[in-house]
Amino acid sequence: MILVTGATGTVGGAVARRLAEAGEDVRALVRSPEAARLPAAVDPVRGDLTDPASVEAAMHGVDGVFLVWPLPEAAPVVPVLEAVRLHAERVAYLSSAGVDPDAEEQGDPITATHAEVERALAASGLTWTAVRAGGFAANDLAWAESLSGGGSVVRTPFPEARRAVVHEDDLADVAIRALTAEGHGGRAYTVTGPEMLSETERVHVLGEEIGRPLKTERMGLDEARTRLTAAGLPAEAAEGILEAHRTFSDPSYTEERHTAQEVTGVPPRTYRQWAADHADAFR
Ligand SMILES: NC(=O)c1ccc[n+]([C@@H]2O[C@H](COP(=O)([O-])OP(=O)(O)OC[C@H]3O[C@@H](n4cnc5c(N)ncnc54)[C@H](OP(=O)(O)O)[C@@H]3O)[C@@H](O)[C@H]2O)c1
Repeated sequence: MILVTGATGTVGGAVARRLAEAGEDVRALVRSPEAARLPAAVDPVRGDLTDPASVEAAMHGVDGVFLVWPLPEAAPVVPVLEAVRLHAERVAYLSSAGVDPDAEEQGDPITATHAEVERALAASGLTWTAVRAGGFAANDLAWAESLSGGGSVVRTPFPEARRAVVHEDDLADVAIRALTAEGHGGRAYTVTGPEMLSETERVHVLGEEIGRPLKTERMGLDEARTRLTAAGLPAEAAEGILEAHRTFSDPSYTEERHTAQEVTGVPPRTYRQWAADHADAFR
């Protein structure tokens, strides 16, 4: 039995669905079982990562855990891992490709939290695997608001920002391999998509998949800043996102690609595949 955290979210959702499709026993730790929309074969159990006792209560019969850590601080993961270790051996953790295990300081607070969770895992006595994700293709679902209902323009401050975005199912497949096959303990796998594509290029691919031409238009930085803070981001975090996209827009910027294929042996899903899988969200 695998316990999946974050099963109502992007990657945990893919892990729960793909495990269930493969016929594995899956339990989902969710904060609101009544609101969680999960595949019928997935057993929802109420729990909260801020409450280690609730995690332990969900652990009976569990051998492996898919862990997302949505909290800003890493320290509360320690009692959660202790609760896991009372019952299970393996953990696959959704980390970030931004983690530099050799750096004294990580590039931003979120990456620092991931690095700290990875250190807690290494000290936990569990058999752990870190899935260090590149930028998610699923971040582009933010464009659905302006496109669904017939829109054809994506306004963005950095249309030329290029990334090798990754399909959530590729992240899920690597995590599932780590949880269900031998030989992945103590390993950290960076997993990106296979190709560097700008936002404008991705918008064009999306248009081809949904069957109408789409384009990007540049949004001013002040407006972008205002929108990010209005969406609830602290000013510093908003600035961090804009700064990162400025870097992604530099013509010399490139990302080292490591795809799921290095772990699964199966060619990685392309952005076009992701767009086809999610076309309905943009129609
Ligand atoms: N976006 C990217 O490009 C990117 C790249 C690399 C790494 N990451 C990392 O990926 C992680 C996010 O993964 P995601 O996008 O798949 O998640 P997501 O879609 O944002 O969903 C978050 C999940 O966490 C659950 N959750 C939140 N607080 C919880 C709590 N206190 N106890 C139990 N469950 C809780 C939510 O469940 P509820 O239904 O209860 O809300 C939801 O299922 C973050 O750690 C992020 O840093 C993201």
